[in-house]
Amino acid sequence: MSCLRVFGGFPLEGEIKIQGSKNAVLPMMAAALLVPGEVRFENCPDIADVRAMAVLLEKLGAAVKLEGGILTINASGAHPVFLDEKDMADTRGCILLLGALAARFGEAAVSHPGGCVIGKRPVDLHLFALKQLGANLSGEDVIRCERSCLKGAEVVFPMPSVGATQNALLAAVLADGVTWIHNAAREPEVLHLCNFLNAAGADITGMGTSHLCIRGVKKLSPVCYRVPADRIVAGTYMAAVLCAGGRVFLREAGGDELLAVTRPLKAAGAAIRVLADGILVEKKRRLRAFDYIKTEPYPGFPTDMQSQFLVLAALAEGVCVIEETIFEARFGIVPELKKMGAQIYVEENKAVVEGQESLTGRMLCGRDLRGTAALVLAALSAKGESVVGGMEYLERGYENFVQSLGRLGARVREEGL
Ligand code: EPZ
Repeated sequence: MSCLRVFGGFPLEGEIKIQGSKNAVLPMMAAALLVPGEVRFENCPDIADVRAMAVLLEKLGAAVKLEGGILTINASGAHPVFLDEKDMADTRGCILLLGALAARFGEAAVSHPGGCVIGKRPVDLHLFALKQLGANLSGEDVIRCERSCLKGAEVVFPMPSVGATQNALLAAVLADGVTWIHNAAREPEVLHLCNFLNAAGADITGMGTSHLCIRGVKKLSPVCYRVPADRIVAGTYMAAVLCAGGRVFLREAGGDELLAVTRPLKAAGAAIRVLADGILVEKKRRLRAFDYIKTEPYPGFPTDMQSQFLVLAALAEGVCVIEETIFEARFGIVPELKKMGAQIYVEENKAVVEGQESLTGRMLCGRDLRGTAALVLAALSAKGESVVGGMEYLERGYENFVQSLGRLGARVREEGL
């Protein structure tokens, strides 16, 4: 397990280009299974989850190459292979291979991806959608799809699910007939998957709404697509500046996708300017407490920014309530923040945070992707030295995080344990 030594109290100054989006590129990698020939992704982040997905695609017989931000996938030679528990444990995005394999081969066999520290992460909605489209599914620990010929159908989700919407899209684009997806997730990563599929020749309408219509086409064609900037990585660096102090330009960060994040930050006193080619963020004063933060499906406040806002609230002036409605166990960093002097009281899915002038550096242990990033932010703000363990979680989704912070003026040093 690798860890990060952080000397707190140094402001961040300068500019950083925001990496390509992890949660946008993972479903597009699964979609490449549906394209005969080579697909090329530009601005692809070099992160552990992308590399894990690439290994699975290679196991399925695709040729995959990631170099200098360019990812190429040629799935012409792909064939269905059983993906076991180990294969499926490395990244949550791999469940999206189920829909793509069912669409291309009519068969698939994947182990249940399992839960993680933030929640059980069931896949019942994924299976529901695929069954609606005619997939013959069976099994619990191993999900088997056999001899399926997918047909257009009406899929009405009881609640929006990003991954289940994406799996339904992957299963529907080559299906025979028209598919409607109602109560579809509206996250930008769903929109980008639709845009990618349409660029490859699919016929999807309704993007950006809860109602998607997919007219099945006979085949898709090779295409080159630029991966959009990662909105959660942009939000994380925004929070880093507001923890450590300073002024940073987040090149390629998109303002529209972050409205639910920038609105409360501006109301709390952060100086944030959305420009044509990025977002300028500056800490001019101690933040005032947020009124009330409640995580919701897009366009609501994103659950992937909740841990980072816990840290901002722990340093703000006043009391704030943060309610987590998406995942059942996403307050894992609270005991670590309390070690630093944070005053946080958690009851069920709500955290009441009484902001403190400052936090004190400590030995900290991260256990999930966004939680570990948030602990680094807390350490950047703290008095004295901290050591943050669990950097392998952070490396799943953040490209060159430590080097980028160092370039902006943070005093950070990566160490092995
Ligand atoms: C995606 O996960 C993201 N991951 C998550 O980001 C993100 O937090 C989440 O969407 C919500 O925005 C990727 O895109 C790889 P959901 P996903 O299905 O698709 C329940 C990160 O840090 N549910 O929208 O798994 C589920 O338990 C990660 O980058 C079911 O009950 O999220 C949750 O409570 C963390 N049954 C809610 O729906 C299902 O079949 C939303 O989950 C599927 C989901």
